[in-house]
Amino acid sequence: MAKQEITIKKPFDSHVHLRRGATLRAVTKYTAERFGRGIIMPNTEPPIDTVEQAAEYKKEILSAVSGHSNILQNVGMSVEQKFEPLMTFYLTKKLSPKDIGKGASGDVCKIYAVKSYPYGATTNSQWGYRNILEAKEVLREMENVGMPLLLHGEVHLNDNNVEEDPYDGEKIFIKEVLPRLLDEYPKLKVSLEHMSTSEAVDFIEKNGKEGRLVATVTPTHLMYDRRQAFSGGYRTLLHMKPLIKKMEDREHVREIVKKGLPFVSAGTDSAPHPESKKFSSCCAFGVFNSPVALELYTQVFDELGCLDKLEGFLSENGPRFFGLKPAEDTITLVKEDWQVTEPIVTDEGVKIWSLCDKQHGLGNEVIHWRLASSL
Ligand code: DOR
Ligand code: ZN
Repeated sequence: MAKQEITIKKPFDSHVHLRRGATLRAVTKYTAERFGRGIIMPNTEPPIDTVEQAAEYKKEILSAVSGHSNILQNVGMSVEQKFEPLMTFYLTKKLSPKDIGKGASGDVCKIYAVKSYPYGATTNSQWGYRNILEAKEVLREMENVGMPLLLHGEVHLNDNNVEEDPYDGEKIFIKEVLPRLLDEYPKLKVSLEHMSTSEAVDFIEKNGKEGRLVATVTPTHLMYDRRQAFSGGYRTLLHMKPLIKKMEDREHVREIVKKGLPFVSAGTDSAPHPESKKFSSCCAFGVFNSPVALELYTQVFDELGCLDKLEGFLSENGPRFFGLKPAEDTITLVKEDWQVTEPIVTDEGVKIWSLCDKQHGLGNEVIHWRLASSL
């Protein structure tokens, strides 16, 4: 019997961290092999909050892509035709309405969105606002020029600067912050990133609208619930923000992708950290999943019996929100078991462990779909 396979337009990663330097040089290839474009997260050190920094960062990404000549197999294809990094600003206190105008114009470097991190909630969130509603002038300008806001939707510190329970942060954000934000900025384009709770899913299902309010979903929140995060001890490779929640939350996330709604798309949130930070007494937040993300999305959609919804989720809904057309080239996945058996090693000799790694994953995890050919 012929192997089951699926061909879809080249996917669009609505949320990916590539870092800089040796990490970037090591991980970018895995994204570029699977995704035609990616919305590049700006929480590097220092954060990206000027068009000049974004331009330089984009150059670094493209040079890593061209460094992997096997990705550029098609003669005459430019680097950007193969993988286009779509740059974003970090909503730091320094970011001004003027920067938004400059980013929107694309004169130096086109900026596709602004990302908000709640102060203290996650990796490199120390430059964020405690509460997104404080960033009034920037938000107003984003609304004026039509630049989308990407939300790390968790309340970390409450109005009295007291930390909320990390399992409740998203729930509180959905109840107390998001409705106000949408009310106060009726034309702002908003994306709720990495939905992880039933409350977020319900809110998006009720209020989601193409071009106005959309949401992204990670493979990690689709695959796991917190029992696995604690199975046999704490599972470092599953440690991320928002934290992986209960089984019923995961079921809700699965149900919404199964519906094939036009305002829900794939955002891997692949977030590499060096081994020393991931396996340390204070484990870094972030799941590196770019070597397996596309394969895991396909596996979950297959399990849910909704492979017909995969292309919309992976390749159409994301670009539409950012005013872009879907890719013209395609990618093929085949149903075939494989495992991740090795960490990625940077050119500085640092190991980075991927989600589902045989050694550090949940134990012998087998992935059921794989890329038809490694580009
Ligand atoms: O787990 C996470 N890791 N969540 C974030 O919001 C940031 C990311 C990172 O940059 O490592
Ligand atoms: Zn992220």
